Amino acid sequence: MKMLGWAKLVIVCLVFGVVTVGVRVRGQEKKALDPAAWGADHVGKPVPEFVHGDECLFCHRNTIGATWQNNAHGVTIRQREDAPELTKLVAAQSDLAPIAKEIEYFLGSRHVVRFLKKDGYGKFTILNRQTALGETAKTTGEGKPVWDKTRFGDRCAGCHTTGVDSTNKTFVAFGLDCYACHGDVNLEHGNDTSLVLLSKKQRNNAKVITSVCAQCHLRDAKSKSTGLPYPNNFVAGDNLFRDFVVDWKRADDENLNAGDRHVWRNVRDVAVYGDESITCLSCHQVHGNTSFKHRRVLRAAICSECHEADSFKTPKRYAVRSGLCEY
Ligand code: HEC
Ligand code: HEC
Ligand code: HEC
Ligand code: HEC
Ligand code: HEC
Ligand code: HEC
Repeated sequence: MKMLGWAKLVIVCLVFGVVTVGVRVRGQEKKALDPAAWGADHVGKPVPEFVHGDECLFCHRNTIGATWQNNAHGVTIRQREDAPELTKLVAAQSDLAPIAKEIEYFLGSRHVVRFLKKDGYGKFTILNRQTALGETAKTTGEGKPVWDKTRFGDRCAGCHTTGVDSTNKTFVAFGLDCYACHGDVNLEHGNDTSLVLLSKKQRNNAKVITSVCAQCHLRDAKSKSTGLPYPNNFVAGDNLFRDFVVDWKRADDENLNAGDRHVWRNVRDVAVYGDESITCLSCHQVHGNTSFKHRRVLRAAICSECHEADSFKTPKRYAVRSGLCEY
């Protein structure tokens, strides 16, 4: 009887050993790839002469045009006359009274708004004030309202405007044009949609898609060649990670909000671990402006960013914050 007890213990130990070794081996199998190893880039080259959104929308006005004016990407920067609700809001903020008339553009649409005015070709100057949207809008900022001439070009332009030249810190178009995600589009694509990136025939390359979205959604990375917090002349289709320096530990940072962390985690899974089973487009439809289809994705570790194990009813609550975007 005693012998049997020992034998059992030995068996338990063996099984446990095999299991732990197995897990360790599997852990090792998840070895890091070099995210810079594939593809090409346009670092240091001139910004291509891309086809502008108004031209695209001439042909795509019924499908894409119908929703573009309500898309967060389409409205991330708006002219004053296109946002009467924000113009009204400014008028109600006494703190902004001295400079209210100077504001020409708004940056942000959902939670926070910043104020801009034009400062020569392809440049904005930004006000040291921000207004949190909500039932009672509230404006904050230190000292007197002052315009900052260099901040927008140095810190913001690459992700809130289109066609940025990192040397002069100028942009070709304000807000996010089709080019940001579809790249330098060949106008022959009407006959052969495989010529255009993100068409139904051209949206299965997980690495390419991930680079496209990560060029803006990895907040807190920087360009190796310029040191700026946004990519150097990234053109959709390129490999972002040839010039974008990323601290992947951010994907495990417990202090990061889930809105940003699930992005970091998904990008790391694809770019570093080569796991191409889930991309941003498994869950998000950019033009549909919805993440509804995420409910049908097979359960995976990333679900735990927003859901407690197996209780999908009430997702965890989180507030998106960003030192880079100053909110
Ligand atoms: C690396 C790209 C990147 C840079 C650089 C960047 N942003 Fe952003 N910004 C984003 C992304 C992506 C979002 C949307 C994040 C989300 O909602 O999860 C965003 C959101 C915002 C919002 C919130 C809009 C809203 O209503 O929710 C504001 C305001 C903003 N940025 C201001 C700035 C300012 C000011 C700067 C420069 C000081 C800046 N950003 C630099 C990528 C960037
Ligand atoms: C923020 C990235 C982004 C921007 C900017 C963008 N698109 Fe798209 N586009 C996508 C993605 C991703 C898809 C794949 C389907 C989806 O997610 O909606 C797509 C799909 C499409 C499609 C195919 C729709 C279908 O039925 O499958 C067309 C046409 C299109 N985009 C046109 C445009 C035009 C025109 C603009 C500029 C006004 C534009 N896109 C701006 C990301 C973008
Ligand atoms: C001269 C008209 C014309 C212009 C300009 C044009 N397109 Fe298209 N595009 C078409 C036609 C026609 C198709 C194929 C039929 C369809 O899917 O709508 C198409 C298809 C697409 C698709 C793939 C849709 C699918 O079903 O997979 C995308 C994405 C797209 N266009 C994006 C753009 C973008 C971005 C621009 C601007 C840079 C642009 N188009 C400019 C006519 C045009
Ligand atoms: C050129 C920069 C840029 C690119 C490329 C980009 N985004 Fe964004 N995205 C933003 C900014 C900026 C915002 C917030 C805009 C605002 O509120 O002012 C945003 C907002 C969003 C939101 C929140 C929308 C909402 O209404 O709550 C989602 C989801 C999103 N992006 C997904 C994607 C996906 C998926 C891709 C890749 C196909 C992508 N983005 C590519 C800059 C970008
Ligand atoms: C497993 C599904 C899934 C994947 C993969 C995924 N997302 Fe999300 N994401 C979601 C859901 C669900 C939300 C919450 C939407 C809501 O609050 O209604 C969300 C929210 C967001 C937001 C809005 C944050 C905020 O509240 O301002 C942005 C921006 C975003 N995702 C971008 C991305 C990008 C970029 C990628 C790819 C790198 C990506 N997501 C990958 C499911 C996913
Ligand atoms: C970025 C946060 C985020 C991530 C990541 C995420 N979810 Fe969600 N999920 C939400 C939010 C917010 C809702 C409620 C609104 C909605 O449906 O988009 C939700 C709702 C759901 C629902 C509907 C629950 C109900 O009964 O109403 C299901 C099912 C679901 N998620 C499954 C998943 C699965 C499976 C994954 C992983 C593949 C996942 N989610 C990843 C945020 C997220």
